[in-house]
Amino acid sequence: MNQDVRIYPDLNTLSGAVAKGIADVIETAGKGTKKVAVALAGGNTPRTTYRLLASQYGRKLPWHNTEFFWSDERYVPHDHPASNYRMARETLFSGIEIPEENIHPMPTHFPDPEQAAWSYEEELRRFYPGAWPRFDLLLLGMGTDGHVASLFPASDALEEKVRWLAASAAPSEPRQRLSLTLPALNHASIIYVLIAGAEKARTVANVLAAPPTNGKLPAVLLQPREGQLIWWLDSTAAGQLSSGRTAESCPH
Ligand code: 6PG
Repeated sequence: MNQDVRIYPDLNTLSGAVAKGIADVIETAGKGTKKVAVALAGGNTPRTTYRLLASQYGRKLPWHNTEFFWSDERYVPHDHPASNYRMARETLFSGIEIPEENIHPMPTHFPDPEQAAWSYEEELRRFYPGAWPRFDLLLLGMGTDGHVASLFPASDALEEKVRWLAASAAPSEPRQRLSLTLPALNHASIIYVLIAGAEKARTVANVLAAPPTNGKLPAVLLQPREGQLIWWLDSTAAGQLSSGRTAESCPH
């Protein structure tokens, strides 16, 4: 199966390339009056990408036409250090001029995360009245256990086939999470998976070599129905890919 694997020397060059890719998608998809919808990844890997997106493209892109959602969220207040919303606010939104109404954080104020999941699905359905959301670009990271968004191995949330959002349980703090479900992820037009660090090299090799039906590693189940999937790796995360792999190596 032809996989689009792009390898960069380090996190900085990887982040620069991803930021350019995001900018290209926003510029292309945002031409005219069409709204562009981007779902942001959480965690630490995307921080540099978001900072570069703001610093290098902050004055060039149609932010008024760009709507930001999230792929997942930790169920903590939006000003909590572990909040994915807070991370994006600090690294991206603080550096660009974008209407507040274009930023759609996952709600984390409901007593029950299930209520929050339904609430966010309703918000998404106002934006996507069809059968599934179709983000122009969906950003993800991957954990060493192969989780993507907050869909962890062997979790009920990973099995969800009808709802767009699921409340899930993480093996590490903060344990309560909200996540787009696998079908919601796989209806995106373009998926970028950003992975850096030697600690993920074994999982990367296993995921890219795994048969598509191997559900033990959630990242293997990223199979966009009518969309593009690009793996963006730094050289350490790609360190255990077989030498014969036809990964497209991009020096800069
Ligand atoms: C989260 C993320 C999660 C993340 C991976 C990788 O909320 O933590 O959505 O899926 O992308 O755990 O995290 P790092 O980028 O911090 O390694």
